[in-house]
Amino acid sequence: MEKFVINGGKPLKGEVTISGAKNAAVAIVAATILCDEPCVLENVPDISDITICMKILSSMGAVVKLVNKNTYFIDTRGIKDPKVPYDLARTMRASTYFLGTLLGRFHNAYVAMPGGCDLGDRPIDQHLKAFASLGAQHELQSGEVHVHANELIGSQIYFDMNTVGGTINAIMAACKAKGLSIIENAAKEPHIVDLANFLNSMGADIRGAGTDVIKIRGVNYLKGITYGIIPDQIEAGTYMVAAAATKGDVIIKNVIPKHLESITAKLRKVGVTVIENDESVEVRVDGPLLKTSLKTMPHPGFPTDMQPQFSTMLTLAEGTSIITDDIFDNRFKYVSELRRMGADISVEGTVAVIQGTGSLQGSPVVATDLRAGAALIIAGLAANGVTEVENIHYIERGYESIDKKLKGLGADIKRVVVPDVDHMRMSS
Ligand code: EPU
Repeated sequence: MEKFVINGGKPLKGEVTISGAKNAAVAIVAATILCDEPCVLENVPDISDITICMKILSSMGAVVKLVNKNTYFIDTRGIKDPKVPYDLARTMRASTYFLGTLLGRFHNAYVAMPGGCDLGDRPIDQHLKAFASLGAQHELQSGEVHVHANELIGSQIYFDMNTVGGTINAIMAACKAKGLSIIENAAKEPHIVDLANFLNSMGADIRGAGTDVIKIRGVNYLKGITYGIIPDQIEAGTYMVAAAATKGDVIIKNVIPKHLESITAKLRKVGVTVIENDESVEVRVDGPLLKTSLKTMPHPGFPTDMQPQFSTMLTLAEGTSIITDDIFDNRFKYVSELRRMGADISVEGTVAVIQGTGSLQGSPVVATDLRAGAALIIAGLAANGVTEVENIHYIERGYESIDKKLKGLGADIKRVVVPDVDHMRMSS
């Protein structure tokens, strides 16, 4: 086990380069199963969720070669058995994407019910509903979902709610179905557009990604390509907020400023200067941080994946901020950890009321999920004194080299091995 030890109170300054988007990469890596030739993926983030995706592919018979730190050669033609190894699948939410791709290719898929960050109940009923619209049936057997169809026929797919994963799975399964599928009430996140661009570059016929109606005409063959994954909107947003919380001045490079608009708008509202360039943003704080209210929404609204980081910054602002996040039922678990650092936050259901205290004190804290972990790092960077963040494996699911990138911005952050005995005492 490892932890991060942060000696806080230093403004972040300098430049940081954003890696490829986790939530695009996990979908696109799974989508290589639909490709009838080898492909090369560039700008793949070096994070543990991707390591698991690659292990899944190679354990099923694909050839996966690391060309360099962020580039992979992938040839999935050797996959014969549409079954994802149980122990790998259950560790990660994105393993559900193998349902859509295996169903698309083999008309048959076995994948364990997903794990991943504990954000409350995360059903996959909408994914299964989309597969059923295409003619598939499913059964749950010993913790594993089995989806199968004699053939997949294009159809109308209507989502009862905005679901990123459901939209991605529907696109992937429909890609090789016979005829036209129309997804209504589709999610519009940048990673959905990136997946559609990847599939279209291989020869798929997907129109409307990025809007709430996506039309997919099934094709028989997808050719091999080289494709670069988009920059990570949430990693970029996390560094923007870290710069603001530490009252720093940071240039965040390799970003698509359009994807950051909701975060930029909110940062400006709390008094932060954000300068947008073609492929970078500069974030600087010249005055006090101000209170605000926000509600998380599907894209293009303010992302739930930025809520813990932004709320943490607001503990340092002047006045009372009100945050509503009802996308998942459990996205305020980091609050009890922030309270150890002196934050004044009360949570009632899906609403948090933050009384800005102007400062935080360093303390030992435990990450409860990926974005909560990022929020605690931000708290540690801004706090007076030393903060120790435990459970950093959550953070490493989605942030490439976060300690190295922060050190490059002048942060005093160290990775320290936690002796097992200490860990046992803390978790008992
Ligand atoms: N939902 C259902 N049934 C379904 C699908 C979703 O009830 O079949 C509910 C969920 O329980 C949730 C809401 O609908 O309350 C939205 O879920 P969605 O399907 O949009 O989320 P997801 O696909 O499970 C992805 C990201 C999350 C991100 C959400 C929302 C990946 C691998 N995960 O999850 O990312 O929070 O969309 O934008 O893309 C993260 O990166 O930290 C993360 C958790």
